[in-house]
Amino acid sequence: MSVLLTGGLGYIGSHTAVELLEDGKQVVVIDNLSNSNIDVADKIKKIVGSRCAENLKVYIGDVRDKKILDKIFTEEHIDSVIHFAGLKAVGESVQKPVEYYDNNLTSTLVLLNTMKHFNVKNFVFSSSATVYGRAKSMPIYEDFEIGATNPYGQTKLFIEQILKDLYLSDNSYNIAILRYFNPIGAHDSGLIGEDPNGIPNNLMPYISKVATGKLECLSVFGNDYDTHDGTGVRDYIHVVDLAKGHLKALNKLKTNCGLKIYNLGTGVGYSVLDIVNAYNKVCGGKVKYKIAPRRPGDIDICYANADKAYKEMGWKAERDLEDMCKTSWNFENKNTKR
Ligand code: NAD
Ligand code: WQD
Repeated sequence: MSVLLTGGLGYIGSHTAVELLEDGKQVVVIDNLSNSNIDVADKIKKIVGSRCAENLKVYIGDVRDKKILDKIFTEEHIDSVIHFAGLKAVGESVQKPVEYYDNNLTSTLVLLNTMKHFNVKNFVFSSSATVYGRAKSMPIYEDFEIGATNPYGQTKLFIEQILKDLYLSDNSYNIAILRYFNPIGAHDSGLIGEDPNGIPNNLMPYISKVATGKLECLSVFGNDYDTHDGTGVRDYIHVVDLAKGHLKALNKLKTNCGLKIYNLGTGVGYSVLDIVNAYNKVCGGKVKYKIAPRRPGDIDICYANADKAYKEMGWKAERDLEDMCKTSWNFENKNTKR
């Protein structure tokens, strides 16, 4: 039996593909390359070695395309799906709401309809800490109120609701909604990592490009937040730890767990300056920064309580901030296109 990874050539999907293949699973990927590159398939194969590489099959296509999904579900023996595919830039979602609703919601509906047709009922969904908006206190627990402030976040909320309604209608589904905090870092090989097109919006890829001299200086958005050094605090999690969380989630689904929601974070908050300082230790002080005004829409602090994932799935994050910075720096040096 195989696991279908939609968006499996992207940042989190590719690291998850590696973990699943190394665990001996058969992996089928569908990706439309809108934010990834076909080379990633070869890199995944290189990392896992020839024996496991035989268990990877890649389809280039769009999850909104019912025909290609029908083909995949007919040709492959899919028993579980991890749905990574989606557009993910908060700012862009405000500019292009229709594209975001279409891509993220339509892909999910076409996928769920196809799964229903083929009687596949194990589903893992990439949700986000963004669904907590401005949480009332820290750390954030899974039962906190949810709400969204932008179209990207709305798509995550809508999809969570669709999954809850689906489960209510048929409790033979097993569904894990994983709310990721801030994934950073890269695979130890330096072959796969995060390489966004254009100027990065997110902190870590921006820092990496400043460290290599591709960008001049990091703007630190605000130093007057109510945090230990005034800069924004987030729960950064190593992408390999996050990827391993998906393996645990698949195991959980096999216990007929019903619908479950888990925070995937470390439970520790670091500020922007903590990240800059940690990165400077591994790259030799190349990250120049200046203090800039707050970025509209940003919150001061956000970190998880991830105890539920540990108690119920046996998963916890293991890699530290130094490791996150070292692997990002290694990836940036070895691999990025610009
Ligand atoms: P990514 O952009 O690197 O990966 C998404 C992949 O999906 C890309 O390879 C893209 O080409 C593909 N894709 C997009 N739309 C598609 C479609 N309609 N059909 C087929 N393929 C399609 O993003 P990522 O960081 O790996 O994120 C994966 C998922 O996790 C997304 O759903 C994202 O919203 C969610 N998430 C990401 C973060 C983060 O900070 N990276 C945080 C929380 C949640
Ligand atoms: C982190 C911190 C910034 C860039 C976003 C999405 C969220 C989730 C993860 C998908 C903040 C500061 C950043 C820069 C800076 N994605 N910063 N200078 O905003 O926590 O979360 O990605 O679900 O939904 O909103 O991540 O990396 O953009 O910012 O000072 O050039 O770094 O202000 O405090 P964020 P980020």
